[in-house]
Amino acid sequence: MSGAPGADAVPGVGIVVPTPRVGVAVPAAGAGRRMGGERKPFLLLDGEPLLLHALRPFLRTPGVEAVVVAVAEAEGDETRAWTAALDGRVRVVTGGATRSDSVAAAVAALPEALDVILVHDAARPLVGDDVVRRCIEAAAAGSGAVAGWPATDTLKEVDAGGLVVRTPDRERIWHAQTPQGFPAAVLRRALADPGGRARATDDAALVEAAGLPVRMVRGAPDNLKVTRPADLALAEVLLARRRAEAVTDVRAFDPSTDLESALEVARRDGILVYPTETVYGFGGRLTPAAVSAVLGLKARDQTRPLLVLVPGAEAVPGLRWTAEARALADAFWPGALTLVLADPDGAFPPGVRSPEGGVAVRRSPHPVASALVAALGEPLTSTSANAPGRPPAREGREALAAALATGPVAPVHLLDAGALPPSPPSTIVDCTAARPRVLRAGSIPVSRLRCVLPDLQDV
Ligand code: CTP
Ligand code: MG
Repeated sequence: MSGAPGADAVPGVGIVVPTPRVGVAVPAAGAGRRMGGERKPFLLLDGEPLLLHALRPFLRTPGVEAVVVAVAEAEGDETRAWTAALDGRVRVVTGGATRSDSVAAAVAALPEALDVILVHDAARPLVGDDVVRRCIEAAAAGSGAVAGWPATDTLKEVDAGGLVVRTPDRERIWHAQTPQGFPAAVLRRALADPGGRARATDDAALVEAAGLPVRMVRGAPDNLKVTRPADLALAEVLLARRRAEAVTDVRAFDPSTDLESALEVARRDGILVYPTETVYGFGGRLTPAAVSAVLGLKARDQTRPLLVLVPGAEAVPGLRWTAEARALADAFWPGALTLVLADPDGAFPPGVRSPEGGVAVRRSPHPVASALVAALGEPLTSTSANAPGRPPAREGREALAAALATGPVAPVHLLDAGALPPSPPSTIVDCTAARPRVLRAGSIPVSRLRCVLPDLQDV
């Protein structure tokens, strides 16, 4: 595996697994014959093209560096217009006569230095982040990986005259879906043979034909491929059901009853929407699934890693507490002061740990946030609750609407504390170096911090 930009700590084991470098090829150049000649990638689902639904889970998955969409030549400009607004990592190329030709065109336009290539049909708008992650894991471990689901109908093999030749053992039959993932070199080699490409109906078949191992990984029954007109109506229903399941509570927060249901959502790697002493925040546990779900809510405007709210200084043993950092925490915590501490052993996951190895922590004085973190007993990620491009929410329902605006795939739970008073953001101090430095002026004036640390460097 080539050089890795980040690292995932395996919880409880302490082994650091390099994050594989991932590229995604998205065939979208089909004629849509079974859809009556409709251009499927542009059909609207919940007001947005299927293609965009199909791309989003990949764009919020750690390690994904490039995405190439192959479309019919006439559709290039329209596709570029949609995807440019979505994410700068997406490129558009012209597809080919068969699906495999389109995949080959997309793969050829991906960067060379990748560990894993995923292939995903533009016509599958409901793929879950967990399925994407499983395909990457299996492919990074060295085999091909096909998302799939066990057959529910009995299948029959028939001859040309319609006579049943065989009834395969259903226990061993799975429906193949996408994504399919492969070690990059393996897929490139398999796609190089034009004859093989003409015969294969999916990418795994090409790799199987080359005699290489391909593993079935758990997909999802609702990872539907929109093929016929009725499928679009079904996709609308499945998406609406997913969103309805995602919203579990919009009542005002009552610690005596609501804390437990919030913890339950957090333990399932869901997203909590909660009030802090500044604005509403989105957050969750430090697991890769929960971190990527929270980052996904802000895919377009998250430039910094997520900060974490902690129950107290002693609750984050992986971080390096300098004497200066301790002095600031003793004086101002709980309070709107965020401290960036060094994480020398990579105890925190990418998305929380900065590329330089710092983690931003704070002990919140807000009664709901602090009760939540204390009850959870572990750090809770925190980023301001806003829909991409909008200001942070100061009202519970507005924060919930912001979370739902991007179509989250994890359950979302609001701890509603009504409207919050206007407040500046927290003050941020970098304590990773010998001499602490203010990174962002905010709620607590630097002059007050200097009462504790006269030597503090300004912004
Ligand atoms: N595809 C492609 N290039 C082709 C054929 C198909 O990129 N020459 C893509 C489709 O756009 C789709 C995916 O492969 O995203 C799966 O194909 P399918 O669902 O069969 O779509 P179509 O080929 O468009 O539909 P049909 O077979 O009904 O014509
Ligand atoms: Mg087709």
